[in-house]
Amino acid sequence: MTADIALIRSSFKAVEPHGSQVTGYFYDHLFTNHPGVRPLFAPHIDEQRDRLWAALGALVANIENTETLTTMLQNLGRRHVGYGALAEHYPAVGASLIATLKHYAGNDWTPEVEESWVAVYGVISETMIAAGETASR
Ligand code: HEM
Repeated sequence: MTADIALIRSSFKAVEPHGSQVTGYFYDHLFTNHPGVRPLFAPHIDEQRDRLWAALGALVANIENTETLTTMLQNLGRRHVGYGALAEHYPAVGASLIATLKHYAGNDWTPEVEESWVAVYGVISETMIAAGETASR
């Protein structure tokens, strides 16, 4: 993958202090651009906000620990089948995730950072989707 791990870490760190605002922005972006996915989520997503953010933090923390990362993503992908997440939803979530990181990273956001996140999200979604497909067969 063409991801620069140091850039992933530094940009994530720049966004982190913005706390729950970040996930609020993410869900607003996702539901505005893809209202069709709103019914998949519980009506009140406050608790869910923190879990998604915690999961992203754990993924970034383990980004070089391929075995742990893969196991985490496979489990997450299998659980997402139960939430009604389909392969075609992943690009929408990825676009909102990247728009959100870009919004809060400020000057830390560069084309190289974006390229790295696109590559990382590609691996994340491929691993989750593949595990989900195996689980639902
Ligand atoms: C980077 C990719 C993603 C990450 C890190 C992520 C993370 C999470 C986490 C940590 C949870 C909490 C429950 C659990 O741990 O099983 C969750 C729940 C959920 N996710 Fe994701 N997710 C991702 C992609 C997606 C996609 C593509 C969809 C499809 C629209 C989706 C829809 C949902 C739904 C519907 C729930 C349950 C929410 C509820 O009960 O209201 N997620 N996700």
